[in-house]
Amino acid sequence: MDEIEVVNLTKDYGHGRGVFDVSFSVKKGEAFGFLGPNGAGKSTTIRHIMGFSKPQKGETRICGMESFSNYDKIMGKVGYLPGEIALPEGLTGTEFLGMMAELRGGADKARVDMLLKTFDLDPKLQTKSMSLGDKRKLAIVAAFMNDPEVLILDEPTSGLDPVMQQVFVDYIKQEKKRGKTILLSSHIFNEVEQTCDRISIIKDGFIVSTFETNSIRHNENKQFELFFKNKADFDRFAKSLPRVRLVKGNISRAGIKSLHPKELKILLAIKDKDANKLTELLSGYDLKSFQQVQFTLEDYFMQFYKEEKDFGGVQWKKKK
Ligand SMILES: Nc1ncnc2c1ncn2[C@@H]1O[C@H](COP(=O)(O)OP(=O)(O)OP(=O)(O)O)[C@@H](O)[C@H]1O
Ligand SMILES: [Mg+2]
Repeated sequence: MDEIEVVNLTKDYGHGRGVFDVSFSVKKGEAFGFLGPNGAGKSTTIRHIMGFSKPQKGETRICGMESFSNYDKIMGKVGYLPGEIALPEGLTGTEFLGMMAELRGGADKARVDMLLKTFDLDPKLQTKSMSLGDKRKLAIVAAFMNDPEVLILDEPTSGLDPVMQQVFVDYIKQEKKRGKTILLSSHIFNEVEQTCDRISIIKDGFIVSTFETNSIRHNENKQFELFFKNKADFDRFAKSLPRVRLVKGNISRAGIKSLHPKELKILLAIKDKDANKLTELLSGYDLKSFQQVQFTLEDYFMQFYKEEKDFGGVQWKKKK
């Protein structure tokens, strides 16, 4: 049994909106990233995992407990950071934390103080007069103050400045070392890449790829930017190789990834094992320069979100 389980979760809001047949699981001690842009279905999935919403089909479980029927137990067990923070007005930060601690059966004062210091928050402020970042920090302290074993974080750094984003990432890395199970939704590549062991990409409510973060870093593809001297050679090269097409779940693709005619630039992906054939391949063309570029999580993600359109890649089925 995994710590967090999502099995064929479907919630259809109509007009292709919602989540469809979403499945993934997070093992104990694992950090799992849920990556997708606005409206992809991250919060919908997370709300089901937390037990706030009943699935139309499928099931979600935390520590073996079905979410919807164990909503209260789950709230007590999980450190949850909602995507949209709605704080009650007329309270100071300290009063809000006190209220949350009471709901969860108490919190260790030394731990609360440590968190306030780490995230540089003055809890004496009224929630009403807090900035967006302060509200986020207060919700972070509330989510972590009971030292929960499972952390479910929905776009945790939205509203935080870059320095605080890094403080958050470092904190999550520490929590991971302490054996916590973490589900983190985000559209920030760097944050997910730094913290997560595995990642799912969600698009239009469907999971389109699940992979180990290391498989991006140790990808068997290499990428090169080729700059041509003239349009004729650019065109000839563009026609000589296949274009990269998407295959579900496959991240090692070889061929032309993108064409940039204005700059006479081509982005080429080749397999590691074929790297030594590159000079041979390029010898028949008039090139200004070429250089290797790192393959990143963003590159991989963009294959699903950008180049699909350019290259007519696989269209993921959308339910009507
Ligand atoms: N209660 C609802 N009723 C109708 N449609 C909804 C509801 N909740 C979400 N949706 C729709 O479902 C889709 C997924 O929304 P969701 O909030 O899960 O996206 P998200 O990935 O969290 O996006 P964001 O990054 O903006 O937070 C969107 O098209 C949204 O409009
Ligand atoms: Mg959301």
